[in-house]
Amino acid sequence: MKVLVVGAGIAGLTAALRADALGHDVEMLVKGRLREGSTAHAQGGIAGEYGPGDSAALHALDTMHAGDGHGDPVAIAALVDGAAATLDALIDAGVPFDRAADGSIARGLEAAHSLPRIAHAGGDATGRAISDALTARLQASGVHVREQAFAADLMTDDGRVHGIRLVDGTRIGADAVILATGGAGQLYPFTTNPAGTTGDGIAMALRAGAPVADLEFVQFHPTVLIDDAGAFLISEAVRGAGAVLVDAEGRRFMFDEHPDGELAPRDVVARAVARQALAQGSPVRLDATDVAGLAEHYPTIDAELRRRGYDWAAEPVPVSPAAHYLMGGIVTDTDGRTSLPGLWAVGETARTGVHGANRLASNSLLEGAVFGALAAEDLGAPPPAFAGHDTPLPRSGGDRVRPVNDGPGFSRAALQHVMWEQVGLLRDDAGLADAVRTLDTWDAPQPRTPAEQEDANLLVVARAVASAALARTDSLGAHFRLSSALEKPTLNQSALIGVR
Ligand code: FAD
Ligand code: SIN
Repeated sequence: MKVLVVGAGIAGLTAALRADALGHDVEMLVKGRLREGSTAHAQGGIAGEYGPGDSAALHALDTMHAGDGHGDPVAIAALVDGAAATLDALIDAGVPFDRAADGSIARGLEAAHSLPRIAHAGGDATGRAISDALTARLQASGVHVREQAFAADLMTDDGRVHGIRLVDGTRIGADAVILATGGAGQLYPFTTNPAGTTGDGIAMALRAGAPVADLEFVQFHPTVLIDDAGAFLISEAVRGAGAVLVDAEGRRFMFDEHPDGELAPRDVVARAVARQALAQGSPVRLDATDVAGLAEHYPTIDAELRRRGYDWAAEPVPVSPAAHYLMGGIVTDTDGRTSLPGLWAVGETARTGVHGANRLASNSLLEGAVFGALAAEDLGAPPPAFAGHDTPLPRSGGDRVRPVNDGPGFSRAALQHVMWEQVGLLRDDAGLADAVRTLDTWDAPQPRTPAEQEDANLLVVARAVASAALARTDSLGAHFRLSSALEKPTLNQSALIGVR
């Protein structure tokens, strides 16, 4: 079977390697170079290393709880049941997970996990270690890799996907397409995500008529340093090791908000950080001065902070929430199947249902690997009949497609501004309605280049996110609606962002 895998993060790499091992003829398309997606930037680690007193069942409960009860129990069961085999496969691929003194895999703690169960490598360089190991495997495999191959659209015939059209017009036919194109952090001006996270897979799926869901759930990470050098994540693992959040007076405030303090679910911490900063007119700080061995345990973060002039061993560092992860995406079942025959979706571009309304820390790498493998194993199965849901899911809004014309008004910066201010961490009815109207008046330029295609995709995804957020009138997980516009502060100000 000829299989096209689009994307070389943990999800695409896992799917391609497994499909190759199963004897399929696999070609991988990557829009830039290998190792450029979010995977290589992952810091904290991968969940699923269960120690004494821990279990897959407890991990499932934590996942459902962090997701505010919105997760799909069947998908969550598939996620945690796949954890042990996933970690074994990564070790087998050569990922050098950090070890405890007794030689077992060291287990880190992150927010909303009942117990330490995060495997990490190189301290805070887990994503790089996984990306390097799997990419080395890829290069030694039979998978044909095409870099600088920007997938623009799915080729469909009578609803069946049979290939990919690249931005340069090249058409590549296939019996199966696996989208593994990652997230959409570039919807926002402040994001932990690397440059290419423009929601391409979701935009392609929407244009082809595949249902998407849960796009209103955008995760903002609470501890991001934002200064003139850009946004840089300071891992939740540092809070797991004892770092605390303090206000302008040096007072801890998280226990006023949640009994788990700094280790409350990520959405709760992000909102508390924003509110505190805005109330005091000065950024919240992450105080890691009592955490021993910062340079040893978090060498990547330590080097970057020092490069930017912060000595975090000596003084607290200003942090702010920034866009980090998209819980929603292309609807799939637990084999990664979408509703379109011939199309699978895995990793951050997919909505398997495991994350609910707010992803549990370090579950994304696990999801990419578990469902990447399951999708590859599903390829040879009898004709795909989408088994995701008994009844068709309503599509998130904004999925209609219009021809894109050179029109006034639109720019990526303008889109990001609207998304940050009106479809961001704190939302209200009037702002969401205004965002939907504004996004609707814009047309992106007719895409002829990769950059133009990314802009066009961002606009498609922004419309879908804003419409989905407007449609969900209650607050749930990361989707938080203020009761009145009067309450709504502007988030784009120096109180929130730690610009020095
Ligand atoms: P990515 O790794 O983003 O890969 C996407 C791939 O698709 C890339 O190769 C890209 O080039 C390609 N692509 C995209 N569009 C196209 C196109 N149109 N044509 C061709 N190719 C295309 N999660 C955890 O579980 N633990 C962590 O510790 C953790 N830390 C994180 C730290 C940071 C700074 C960030 C940004 C994220 C972190 N996450 C973490 C989240 C996690 O890293 C990502 O959700 C996950 O790696 C996504 O994997 P993926 O394979 O779906 O996509
Ligand atoms: C982090 O290291 O804080 C990021 C972990 C994640 O996104 O799961």
